[in-house]
Amino acid sequence: MYKTYSRLEQLILPPPPKCGVELQTTLLSRKSYRNFSKKPINLSLLSGLLYYSSGLTMVSKNPKESRRAYPSAGAKYPLEIYVLILQGIDIKPGLYHYDLCAHALEILLLPVLKSEVEPIWKSQRWFRSAAVIFIITAIHKRTTEKYGPEGTIFPFIEAGHIGQNLYLLAQAYKVGCCAIGQMNEASVCKLLDINPNEEYPVYYLAIGN
Ligand SMILES: Cc1cc2nc3c(=O)[nH]c(=O)nc-3n(C[C@H](O)[C@H](O)[C@H](O)COP(=O)(O)O)c2cc1C
Repeated sequence: MYKTYSRLEQLILPPPPKCGVELQTTLLSRKSYRNFSKKPINLSLLSGLLYYSSGLTMVSKNPKESRRAYPSAGAKYPLEIYVLILQGIDIKPGLYHYDLCAHALEILLLPVLKSEVEPIWKSQRWFRSAAVIFIITAIHKRTTEKYGPEGTIFPFIEAGHIGQNLYLLAQAYKVGCCAIGQMNEASVCKLLDINPNEEYPVYYLAIGN
């Protein structure tokens, strides 16, 4: 399952670039970076980060046989990925939703006003110098429909899988990554225009140079 905004303009992403770094080397050097330089991100790098962290890596006519870059309980895939571009070269600062089927970004807010973004930050204001903030949301119903209340934890676990993918990819692409534990959730929901009773943010990661 996945969400699409079929009426919105799309930005098709370029093919994801290969990293060419050994997995063990990447694992050994992974760490959190917070001193972002405000250097912008380009579309090619963004494409690699999205595709290899959460993209559709094998497409099958039978949707149940399609594969993604991370595991999901019962293949229910409750997560959605939004990217908030703060500094970009060939992509304008704005809010986008990842359409994994088309490997494209749906343009949700362009430009995004400072006044719309400011309320999402809590105390850790240095994340404002990152190039992009990945916002992972969960539509829990997709999972709980199958597993009941016991499945409530699965989307959080799955977000962790994507988070680790992003950390490792950032290391391999030689950019910095840091998880963000605290954001103003109500403001994030408002920015994304999502109903927190149906979909809500579960994990945030900042990536930059
Ligand atoms: C769920 C989660 C939330 C985190 N939240 C923050 C945060 O809000 N601010 C921050 O500076 N680091 C945050 N981190 C990064 C941790 O501080 C960091 O992983 C830890 O200090 C270990 O350092 P390392 O990642 O460099 O190995 C978070 C990490 C995780 C997994």
